[in-house]
Amino acid sequence: MSKTTISVIKADVGSFPGHSRIHPRLLEKAQKLLKEENGKLLIDSFVTHCGDDLELIMTHTHGVDNEKVHRLAWDVFSECTKIAKSLKLYGAGQDLLADAFSGNVRGMGPGVAEMEFEERGSDPVLIFMADKTEPGAWNFFLYKIFADPFNTSGLVIDPSMHKGFIFEVHDLIGKRKIRLSCPEELYSLLVYIGAPSRYVIKHVFGRDGSIAASTSTQHLNLVAGRYVGKDDPVMIVRAQSGFPSVGEVIEPFCTPVLVAGWMRGSHHGPFLPVGLCESSCTRFDGPPRCICMGFQVSDGRLIGPADMFDDPAFDRVRSRCNELADIIRAQGPFEPHRRSLGEMEYTTLPGVETELADRWESLSLK
Ligand code: 13P
Ligand code: 13P
Ligand code: MG
Ligand code: MG
Repeated sequence: MSKTTISVIKADVGSFPGHSRIHPRLLEKAQKLLKEENGKLLIDSFVTHCGDDLELIMTHTHGVDNEKVHRLAWDVFSECTKIAKSLKLYGAGQDLLADAFSGNVRGMGPGVAEMEFEERGSDPVLIFMADKTEPGAWNFFLYKIFADPFNTSGLVIDPSMHKGFIFEVHDLIGKRKIRLSCPEELYSLLVYIGAPSRYVIKHVFGRDGSIAASTSTQHLNLVAGRYVGKDDPVMIVRAQSGFPSVGEVIEPFCTPVLVAGWMRGSHHGPFLPVGLCESSCTRFDGPPRCICMGFQVSDGRLIGPADMFDDPAFDRVRSRCNELADIIRAQGPFEPHRRSLGEMEYTTLPGVETELADRWESLSLK
């Protein structure tokens, strides 16, 4: 039986007003271009957005890192950039950091999460998409989903999950990766993933090697060497039958968590789970937020979507996040609302440093 691949490739190629939301003409164009490939390069596709990020969800049989699929995504973003430029949308072409496609969109600006698997009898898949934050924002939630029995009771009571899961962590600065098995290596895992600006969970695997979750880990600032907008990551999670249930996968989003991003990518703020209609960013260009689209994958077809956070069950966390937003916003440009100096290295600070370089005087006694 052939395997199914899910590719979620996203980019911010322009928005309105400012960085708040996508323009419908970009969505229409992307939908049309992907639809033309349904039944050819792709089996199925779904186009959506979170805030100002254009999200392409594609299924096919060509495996991860496929050049044709990546080229298609690049071409869609390029065509949408043309429209964005014609409308003078804000940040038109923002995330396309290269002039031309060269084999794989990784390292060229767009974010990519992909996974290939043999479909089970029934395969529920949840796709999370965020705006105004960075890839490490998923760390807390992936830990809760796949390693915390107080979140996921299946780790305790479902024999098919009792052995736990394997986490692949990427060091985005040191450019290295490691696999840690949980529960045995839980504390070692937390040492790293508790520093989400540097260490990011890329994949989670079952003990039999089957893929359970995959995230985008592109760090635009590290690619460009300067501030070019946040990375606004995506994540694919498989649920049920050996994996956490759908309800266990979305349960950790009921906890208000502070993530990095928000205004100019330079602040910490609460991470709001929202329905698609509420995904546009407003207050202080945020707050950071995410949507979750649920599908059944059936011979590669995307049956859905279900807008998982469009539910009063998430009203309370949204309200608590808004309270947190009030509290932390009152700190203005002070840490920890503003990110630490080390983290600002690739953001807005270098420009100020250059401007004032000649005016700083030495404190050393001569
Ligand atoms: P059902 O009995 O409705 O299939 O639910 C099982 C389950 O896994 C709930 O999380
Ligand atoms: P985006 O990364 O979503 O484009 O946001 C950039 C920004 O500077 C918001 O204030
Ligand atoms: Mg933007
Ligand atoms: Mg964005």
